[in-house]
Amino acid sequence: MIISIALIWAVVVGFCCLLWLAVGIRRSRQKKYGHIFTCKIAGQYIHFLCDPFSYHSVIRQGRHLDWRKFHFATSVKAFGHDSFDPRHGHTTENLHQTFLKTLQGEALPSLIETMMGHLQDVMLRSDTLSPSKNHWEVMFESGYLTLFGKELGEDKCQARQAAQKALVLNALENFKEFDKIFPALVAGLPIHVFKSAYSARENLAKTMHAEKLSKRENVSDLISMRMILNDSLSTFNDLSKARTHVALLWASQANTLPATFWSLFYMIRSPDAMKAACEEVHKVLEDSGLTADPNDPTLKLTREQLDNMPVLDSIVKEAMRLSSASMNVRVAKEDFLLHLDNQEAYCIRKDDVIALYPPMLHYDPEIYEDPYEYKFDRFLDEQGQEKNTFQRSGRRLRYFYMPFGSGVTKCPGRFFAVYEIKQFLTLVLSYFDMELLDPAIKVPPLDQSRAGLGILQPTYDVDFRHTEFSNLYNG
Ligand code: HEM
Repeated sequence: MIISIALIWAVVVGFCCLLWLAVGIRRSRQKKYGHIFTCKIAGQYIHFLCDPFSYHSVIRQGRHLDWRKFHFATSVKAFGHDSFDPRHGHTTENLHQTFLKTLQGEALPSLIETMMGHLQDVMLRSDTLSPSKNHWEVMFESGYLTLFGKELGEDKCQARQAAQKALVLNALENFKEFDKIFPALVAGLPIHVFKSAYSARENLAKTMHAEKLSKRENVSDLISMRMILNDSLSTFNDLSKARTHVALLWASQANTLPATFWSLFYMIRSPDAMKAACEEVHKVLEDSGLTADPNDPTLKLTREQLDNMPVLDSIVKEAMRLSSASMNVRVAKEDFLLHLDNQEAYCIRKDDVIALYPPMLHYDPEIYEDPYEYKFDRFLDEQGQEKNTFQRSGRRLRYFYMPFGSGVTKCPGRFFAVYEIKQFLTLVLSYFDMELLDPAIKVPPLDQSRAGLGILQPTYDVDFRHTEFSNLYNG
């Protein structure tokens, strides 16, 4: 390698910010890019692919492109565990397979059911323990308990409940402290420079040692499988094992929290979105003979029922289209010719970086009309079902929406993430009358310091006012 992975990432992220500006410039001046543009920085070539019709060549280019170098190195740098790259000799686990097994397919119904139970507990049952029902807290607590389970013991004991609550809220504070400096860690700064973030990460790890986790019940397959495989296939020490769980906590929350914020914010701000969403939720509950009763908050929605909510799906997708800046990065393993859609072949050298930057798609006016506008039904077709066909220059696009990455590094938690947000919105609409404290509030700007890393956070939080319905669907 000519320069380190860290420096490459710093450069790439810097470019993301520039690209974001360029996306804007493109809109105002209708400036056209070529299919690819290349920068040479400190001897390193970075190729930004701009033409969505050529994305496929990078996404399927498994033989020549390495995704592991970036991903494993980034995780080690940020979380401090030993490397998961089997080539480094600390583990023989196929991490990718573990994620697919424990987050997709047959693993989903139980994740969905557990999440729904926790969401209702946190939203409606824990009033006495927490006066605030901030949506960030609700999602964090419910997601945390879904993955890491609850401490063993009698649930009805108030002191125990308070201790559980304190543990999770403490984890949230540590998570926020650590998450603040995440971009700096990915850019290569050592965590020791950030004393409070370092202790926040280590505090999280302390709660995730095997002996602590073994005292919890209803731990998800994702975490219990990790514990088994850490023990059986790796040479990680106890601290390293605990830090792998911190990495998963971060992966499961860092994007979900802002994605939930944006979905809720845009939905509540748009009367049309609210109306359509309320109707959809009402219909699904009615068709299933379910009643939302705040005095007995035990709604259950199956995976099929959640799949049958195209309006909420479109609301979530549109919010993520507007706020996602996840970058897809690959490193060339050898010299090769990258074949672009326009029949040109582009010379890529060993160690060159190829980057796909989805906001270039998400804000492209030729793909999405008025791309800076929120349209809740953008992802619905004429029949009100999921719209899967998007075009550019009269040609159907294979890639038009990429907040979850692409190809082999596509987020394994993406199905669960969308279900979680749909569940949250369903419950908000069923149990609460919610509005913005300031109905005329402008959309908060995106925090660009995280460009490249996922769903961007708002630069400031927004206040909502909520009143519990006494019993909406019982009339
Ligand atoms: C990786 C997005 C929620 C688990 C990723 C990546 C992206 C992403 C962009 C990296 C892809 C790449 O580098 O090319 C999101 C978004 C989410 C979300 C936008 C929410 C809206 C979740 C949830 C979980 C999860 C809820 C787990 C419960 C993971 C894991 C990885 C990952 C384990 C690493 C995969 C690997 O390295 O093989 N996610 N994610 N994600 N995500 Fe998510």
